[in-house]
Amino acid sequence: MTIAATQPQPGDLVEFDRVKTPMYEDEALFEEELERIFGRTWVWVAHTSEIPDKGSFVRSWVGRQPVIVVRDRKNEIHVMVNRCRHRAATVCEVKKGKTSSFQCPYHGWGYGLDGSLRGLPYPEQYGEDFDKEAHGLKKLRVESYQGMIFATFNEEIEPLESFLAGAKKWIDLFMKQGGGFPIKVLGEHQFTFPGNWKIQLENTTDAYHFPVVHKSFLQSLDKEAEATFTFLEGEGFVEDLGNGHSVMVMMPELVDLDDNLDAAIPQRFEALAQELRDEGYPEDQVRKIVRAVGGAGFNLNLFPNVSFSLSFFRVLRPINVRETGIRHIALGMDGGPVAANRMRLRLHEHFQGPLGFGSPDDAEVWERVQRGTLGGEDLPILVNRGLVDEVPGEHGPRGHVSAETGMRAAYKMWKRMMDQ
Ligand code: FES
Ligand SMILES: [Fe+2]
Repeated sequence: MTIAATQPQPGDLVEFDRVKTPMYEDEALFEEELERIFGRTWVWVAHTSEIPDKGSFVRSWVGRQPVIVVRDRKNEIHVMVNRCRHRAATVCEVKKGKTSSFQCPYHGWGYGLDGSLRGLPYPEQYGEDFDKEAHGLKKLRVESYQGMIFATFNEEIEPLESFLAGAKKWIDLFMKQGGGFPIKVLGEHQFTFPGNWKIQLENTTDAYHFPVVHKSFLQSLDKEAEATFTFLEGEGFVEDLGNGHSVMVMMPELVDLDDNLDAAIPQRFEALAQELRDEGYPEDQVRKIVRAVGGAGFNLNLFPNVSFSLSFFRVLRPINVRETGIRHIALGMDGGPVAANRMRLRLHEHFQGPLGFGSPDDAEVWERVQRGTLGGEDLPILVNRGLVDEVPGEHGPRGHVSAETGMRAAYKMWKRMMDQ
């Protein structure tokens, strides 16, 4: 009798409360992830404020594949692969801008805003039966929610809103940071870190690291602000929102920015409040704007590539198994007071900026996780914190604010997708 050997599946790397180290190191696994995760699910590509007008475009990525997100003359949004259908040159190298068409620099094939092939030099050499319609830029399926544009290569996938599952409510709450105005991208900076993309995926709903890694940030705050960031002993929680998404509520009193607007304005925002009053804003609007400037009291992580925190989106891009690109996108109020947007940028820079007190420290530990994995494949990565008192939530388990519930949610989805 022969016993058929069972082939190990990628999903075997996840054991619910721990994951195996090749997760961060295995090159073949990385290629599988690009296909089975980034090739099959909804991936965040842009915010609508980045393409405000007809003809506006911004470059982005779906996994490793470069794409262009563009608004056409009918205001329809298209996402298409940034690859000429002739011999593959990128047709757009400008980060963002406005155009009426995309022309390939190599042999001059020209594409419309909807990706259709409009013209090519000396077409007669292709013969009369050359089908221009079959040679447009490759297009992805596109849907958006609250200005967040997602794209997918998977025509069979469920609608975006059902994929977002329990995260929808939290996206709605996050967008209240417009303070009554629409949310607008104010700018961004990018960097890469020498580590696997999932090291970042694990980070945004990890409160446990905050007082340790972000000690220098906490020391740079005034006493009142510092108190709001000592949330590990507070009433916060982490919840699995379904489909790999999770939320970490750090400051429950700042979940809904429209609640308790009569509360005292924190001292660090008093000068801004006075400036807005002097500009003629009525008191109730001043309070709403000032509250929004301070940001929401939770972090939201959407599987697989975008998270929301304080005043920004963080977008990750897998480059190779040991390299990940990060975009930090600062958010403000479209049409809101200049002083309010200025202060949001300063707050963003304080934590997330290249010279800020937050992101550089995060990037250092992400890099050290990757380096440390060389210490042994026999040792697991533990994500078991907080199982002691997890309770069922509306969409999945809910645990202590410092629980690793968010990581377990992400790896559960990772396993589901990798085993498909
Ligand atoms: S590669 Fe684009 S026209 Fe030839
Ligand atoms: Fe951090």
